[in-house]
Amino acid sequence: MKATAVAPSNIAFVKYWGNADPRLNIPFNNSISMNLSAAQTRTTVEFDPAFTGDTLVIDGRPVIGAARTRVVRHLDRIRALAGTDNYARVVSENNFPMGTGIASSAAAFAALSLAGTAALNLDLSEREMTALARQGSGSAARSIPDGYVELKAGGGHTTAFAYTLFAPDHWDLCDIVAIVSRREKPVGSSQGHGAAETSPHFTTRLAELPARLKTVRQALRNRDVQALGEAAEADAISLHVVAMTSRPPIYYWAPGTVRLIHAVQEWRRDGLPVYFTLDAGPNVHLICEAEHGADVLGRLSQIDEVIETLVSGPAEGAHLTDDHLF
Ligand code: DP6
Repeated sequence: MKATAVAPSNIAFVKYWGNADPRLNIPFNNSISMNLSAAQTRTTVEFDPAFTGDTLVIDGRPVIGAARTRVVRHLDRIRALAGTDNYARVVSENNFPMGTGIASSAAAFAALSLAGTAALNLDLSEREMTALARQGSGSAARSIPDGYVELKAGGGHTTAFAYTLFAPDHWDLCDIVAIVSRREKPVGSSQGHGAAETSPHFTTRLAELPARLKTVRQALRNRDVQALGEAAEADAISLHVVAMTSRPPIYYWAPGTVRLIHAVQEWRRDGLPVYFTLDAGPNVHLICEAEHGADVLGRLSQIDEVIETLVSGPAEGAHLTDDHLF
């Protein structure tokens, strides 16, 4: 009754922002992402009738409070599927530095879903696994399939699932996270999702999305970095406009965020094809083709606000391993 899974984090080019059904994490809109090779979580789950409660250890530290409760709720979903009430021991490790502000919940809930169901010998299809992961964290659904992935809004639990658009080797894109702040973000994504509908710009964002999704699918298919980058930048800014005009407003940007947005535009004017995107936080993801990765890294090293960088290519999705953590 023990299993271990490894899952990547992912970066969305068209982002999920706002829940049609917050209880089930059913998004208002489809989203499209790439799994990140350098940001992975490994999780071992063991169920045992002798355990007297669920325990959670992340990066060597016992976890209590809200973070543990969120994991226990997900274990409850897995237990309900298997018809068991055994408690679990969950041990998880991230291969990227803690406190970098990189959203690890996508990798965490993807790994937990796969390891937890495998530990109880549940046989879920990939589609079912993505829907299960989505209930833990919406973006976690996209960390189950390989490579470039789309999460369908769907409208219901079984129809809001994720699937591979293109395998990791389809296109050697590079995602460089530039860490500009290590401060814990003041407002989590779930609160942001909840406030989205209070922004007068939310309906505009939703109206733009069908065309943008089509553009991004096509840009990925054609390996067209300019079309992808322009759409990804427009989408990130649209999300932040919604966040900044929600009630109450949410300002995720730090001074380094603005500095990098300006730098990216300058570098493009110099002829370097690089684009940015932002999640619900201050750190900037720089997107380029692999051949330009070193150039982008060199330029980032000249910018005072950049504390650290993390370079990823496209990665496979969640998978099981025998390399248990205990
Ligand atoms: C801005 O609800 O998946 O990253 O609160 O970390 O579980 P957690 O996030 P989630 O929202 C993701 C929001 C986003 C956009 C995206 O990844 O699509």
